[in-house]
Amino acid sequence: MRIGVLTGGGDCPGLNAVIRGIVRKGIDVHGHSLVGFRDGWLGVLEDRAVDLTIESTRGILPRGGTILGSSGTNPFRLDRGPERVRETLEKRGVDGLVVIGGEGTLGAAERLSTEGVPVVGVPKTIDNDLPGTDITVGFHTAVQVATDAIDRLHSTAESHDRVMVVEVMGRHAGWIAVYAGIAGGADAILIPEHPFDLDEVCRRMRHRHMTRSSFSIVVVAEGAVPLEGTSFELPTYELDENGFPRLGGIAALLGPELERRTGYQTRVTILGHVQRGGSPVAFDRVLGTRFGLAAVDLATAGGWGRMVSRRGQDVIDVSLEAANGPRSTVPVELYREAEVFFG
Ligand code: F6P
Repeated sequence: MRIGVLTGGGDCPGLNAVIRGIVRKGIDVHGHSLVGFRDGWLGVLEDRAVDLTIESTRGILPRGGTILGSSGTNPFRLDRGPERVRETLEKRGVDGLVVIGGEGTLGAAERLSTEGVPVVGVPKTIDNDLPGTDITVGFHTAVQVATDAIDRLHSTAESHDRVMVVEVMGRHAGWIAVYAGIAGGADAILIPEHPFDLDEVCRRMRHRHMTRSSFSIVVVAEGAVPLEGTSFELPTYELDENGFPRLGGIAALLGPELERRTGYQTRVTILGHVQRGGSPVAFDRVLGTRFGLAAVDLATAGGWGRMVSRRGQDVIDVSLEAANGPRSTVPVELYREAEVFFG
């Protein structure tokens, strides 16, 4: 068989582990040939491809990013997009595609699959909000980066009796904020799933500063929203190429507002794309490798229209349709556990 591979959407640590797993097992065990498309769906549309071999994928396991490049291009938003995908696959003799992506990339994969394009999906996003899997590639590395940052902010917060507001990624779900917040000992965690009341945050902070400590760490997910009827205005966001708001910057408004309401000196750190960069932690290398191996097995068995997924300790597969259902969000029980340490 000849199998195509692409990585789409925002990059994350662990993508190269997936590619390496697909290539190694695809060639050594199944005897396939593999072709990588550059920059997500764009490379398929424009027929920009590279051969993926054991040699060309040697040494990539600990490398961040993706050797194939990535983009948010959606074939359904472009003229003759799905047709051009089919033409490239036919021209290159590709029997099926392994698509490594998040919401947008896998959404397009599902649509193409229902139109007869043979596709297998692999879930990745640092946000960990894809349904159909317990966990996505990249999440644990982002959590580690954010936790390391919080640890560093802790010592300077303590030295200066300051409030440190740390903004992490998390467009629709606060997984990174909650995990890194628990791991870093945050005193408040604001996430999209639980709209915040800034007055209540200030109240808890005052309580903490009067009874326990003279510094605080507030972790806020970029997609956090204020409770309706409470006074806090979100920044205005530009739109990206697909018409989605380009988030980032809520902490820049939140920090000064906290300082104004409490009188405590406050500083703001926005981690941004630092969380998506650099070498994957061991967990993401293992998860990426296992997903890569399972994806090439699935393609070999003709499991088109499906996505590899982690359930407990197992790697299973689910329909791409299930992977495009309602987002995976932070369960209220987990948030309540984090909340024990607020204030
Ligand atoms: O999908 C992950 C994510 O990191 C979001 O949390 C963030 O809003 C987005 O990507 C930013 O992506 P980019 O700057 O690459 O458009």
